[in-house]
Amino acid sequence: MKSIAIITGASSGIGREFIAQLNQGAGGVLDEIWAIARNQERLDEVAASSAIPVRAMALDLTKDGSADEVARQLDEEGDEVRVQWLVNSAGFGRTGDFDAISAEDNSNMVRLNCLAVVDMCYAVLPHMVPGSRIVNMASVAGFLPLAQFAVYAASKDFVISFSYALDAELRDVGIRVTAVCPKWMKTGFMDDIGDRDAYESMTVIGFDDPKSVVNTALRSSVLGSPMCIPSPDMQFVRIFTKILPVGATIAAFGLLRRLKR
Ligand SMILES: NC(=O)c1ccc[n+]([C@@H]2O[C@H](COP(=O)([O-])OP(=O)(O)OC[C@H]3O[C@@H](n4cnc5c(N)ncnc54)[C@H](OP(=O)(O)O)[C@@H]3O)[C@@H](O)[C@H]2O)c1
Repeated sequence: MKSIAIITGASSGIGREFIAQLNQGAGGVLDEIWAIARNQERLDEVAASSAIPVRAMALDLTKDGSADEVARQLDEEGDEVRVQWLVNSAGFGRTGDFDAISAEDNSNMVRLNCLAVVDMCYAVLPHMVPGSRIVNMASVAGFLPLAQFAVYAASKDFVISFSYALDAELRDVGIRVTAVCPKWMKTGFMDDIGDRDAYESMTVIGFDDPKSVVNTALRSSVLGSPMCIPSPDMQFVRIFTKILPVGATIAAFGLLRRLKR
């Protein structure tokens, strides 16, 4: 029986860091990692630096049928494979006013950040066993509606809600689902973030370190926690956003952003 990890967004940032830490044994014994992203060249680099054999799968997860291709390759392996880890890390965000962001970017954020997560879970679940884990990259942006990050914040709210519900459905069979909610991280994510002023004002909350986020995410997932908020100050923010009326949290964050400007 072959034990594998499937990582989306594997060519950069957090997905790549997951592969690095799985190579250090943080996810138990693995026979293979299936690494998914669009950029074949960068996937080949990831494969070359991994001691665990990597199957590089160049797929655009905003396109219909991409997760079906993963399902097809899993079916081809038959009973010989069990998926120990599914990490849904592929994602992108654009800052700026809703109508200043292209229609294509706004809908692709939903396709990649939400729909692809759902499709990948469908594709992979039949090959999971008790003890398997799903890690979905969400964000603190999912804690409240964010002006000038509207679609992105809503997409991460979706990931949090979906992860909690799926975890509640699956925990009795021993499969756990974790939504990971970091602050900003210095990865490829900001290379094409959109409106720089909007982005700068939102960095008022600070940054998390990608290595420590992945380390905490893996540990939370093994422990079976449905939500992982690596930074303690954001754990307080989560509580406040649950207690306060939504209008008050929007106003409070708006004030913080203005102070940063
Ligand atoms: N960095 C932050 O500030 C931050 C904060 C909170 C949460 N997050 C979340 O963390 C996750 C990882 O982000 P990151 O920081 O690692 O960003 P990143 O360095 O930009 O990595 C994003 C990954 O997604 C892949 N990807 C993008 N579009 C894709 C598509 N259409 N199909 C398949 N793969 C695609 C990219 O590879 P290709 O370009 O090769 O396709 C890349 O491997 C995302 O879900 C993000 O929303 C990030």
